[in-house]
Amino acid sequence: MAKMHDTPMLDELTKGPWPSFVTDIKKAAEAGNEACADLLGQLELSYKDKEGHWKHGGIVGVLGYGGGVIGRYSDVPDLFPGVEHFHTLRVNQPASKFYKTERLREVMEIWNNRGSGMLNMHGSTGDMVLLGAFTEELEPIFAELTQKGWDLGGSGSALRTPACCVGKARCEFACIDTQDICYSLTQEYQDEMHRPAWPYKFKFKIDGCPNCCVASLARSDCAIIGTWRDDIRIDQEAVAAYVGGEIAAHGGANGADAKLDIKADVIDLCPTGCMFYEDGKLTINNAECTRCMHCINVMPRALRPGLDTGASILVGAKAPILEGAQMGSLIIPFIKMEEPYDEFKEFVEKMWDWWDENGKNRERIGELIQRLGLSAFIEAVELKPIPQMVKEPRSNPYIFYKEDEVPGGFERDIADYRKKHAR
Ligand code: HEM
Ligand code: HEM
Ligand code: SF4
Ligand code: SF4
Repeated sequence: MAKMHDTPMLDELTKGPWPSFVTDIKKAAEAGNEACADLLGQLELSYKDKEGHWKHGGIVGVLGYGGGVIGRYSDVPDLFPGVEHFHTLRVNQPASKFYKTERLREVMEIWNNRGSGMLNMHGSTGDMVLLGAFTEELEPIFAELTQKGWDLGGSGSALRTPACCVGKARCEFACIDTQDICYSLTQEYQDEMHRPAWPYKFKFKIDGCPNCCVASLARSDCAIIGTWRDDIRIDQEAVAAYVGGEIAAHGGANGADAKLDIKADVIDLCPTGCMFYEDGKLTINNAECTRCMHCINVMPRALRPGLDTGASILVGAKAPILEGAQMGSLIIPFIKMEEPYDEFKEFVEKMWDWWDENGKNRERIGELIQRLGLSAFIEAVELKPIPQMVKEPRSNPYIFYKEDEVPGGFERDIADYRKKHAR
């Protein structure tokens, strides 16, 4: 039986209409879990003292890996021996997070036996996050997990566990096989994941279409977003069925006989104004379409992405630890994504070389691009500058002439030049 602590302040959190982590952890504590009981005790003390009682205290990990374990210790271990060490293990999730319950039980058996039994499905990184282990348990946990085919994910200045949307497994919009790409990158870059060697972290996220369900655009240093370069497929009969009300608008969310207003709901909301509905026929000027997905989302039975599919690659998104948050910048508007993804991987390796060579300690690639300029980055990855790379026209020009490219160089005699225009 674990020693329960009085937690009047934490108990307040159990009162509202929402599920509370306090209720859950208490349940486990009452069932005899000492780490859970002491975690609540220490948290209550933190509320009282208005200070955190966790400390870092050196690097912990498993042999051969530089990442995957994040160390935490209690600074009041005498009061709460159950959380004296409270290390976190990141466990690499399978692509799109599909599990058999049998496999989850496997993980839980190891974790209940050797760790706190508390876990987070899933951390923002994507991994399964196992919270609260003692140092001496780390190697046995790692051994037992790997015996069953699991592996740790990335942490520290490493490649973080790549993550992807559900993709072709369940989603008709998927233009690329997100799961296969995720798996291929994970396998190819094992070393980069387990042995941190970079200025800072690096994340890949893969979305099957511009709906961006894993928010790769904002959450990954390199976003791979499925798209198409031919035309949106139109089924005119289904368009007519939407207009006539035979197919309920918005998937029936507003009732089975809610009728789509094709003008208000689709045509007028197309951000580029490239859709037309005339004489009962829908047309799209595909050259102007930005692939925003709006029309396809609203009329999924009538409109589908094209068939010549690939991905757009964006680089440089990050959260605001240093400087501000930023979205990725479009670097490659379209690239075919076919197994084994060699063309994409070549790009990745050029990008990493440049970052590794030039990045300061704890500088994300997006920050390095800001510091040295998009033009330096584009040159390093050997791409031709194109207008789509510009974030805002005119405020961030990306083409710079170099002196040796200009006949006569930059030096000129201004008096001599002006003579030509003298009246
Ligand atoms: C008020 C207190 C805390 C705040 C505001 C906080 C905030 C955060 C934030 C913003 C992240 C990043 C999430 C992400 O984007 O990946 C994070 C991650 C993390 N925090 Fe905390 N944290 C707090 C307390 C703690 C404590 C007490 C521990 C451990 C004892 C802890 C362990 C971790 C771990 C292991 C991660 C990485 C999780 C993952 O892999 O997704 N945090 N925290
Ligand atoms: C002293 C003479 C001139 C000055 C000070 C001047 C100044 C400017 C400025 C400040 C802009 C805006 C640039 C920008 O926002 O990036 C501009 C744009 C432009 N100027 Fe001039 N300009 C001059 C002469 C001319 C002449 C002689 C022509 C045509 C023969 C011309 C054609 C244009 C055009 C077409 C644009 C728009 C370019 C674009 O949208 O990309 N300008 N000019
Ligand atoms: S990002 Fe696109 S392909 Fe992936 S799950 Fe979302 S809608 Fe489907
Ligand atoms: S995908 Fe977006 S931009 Fe393209 S036609 Fe549809 S609504 Fe317009």
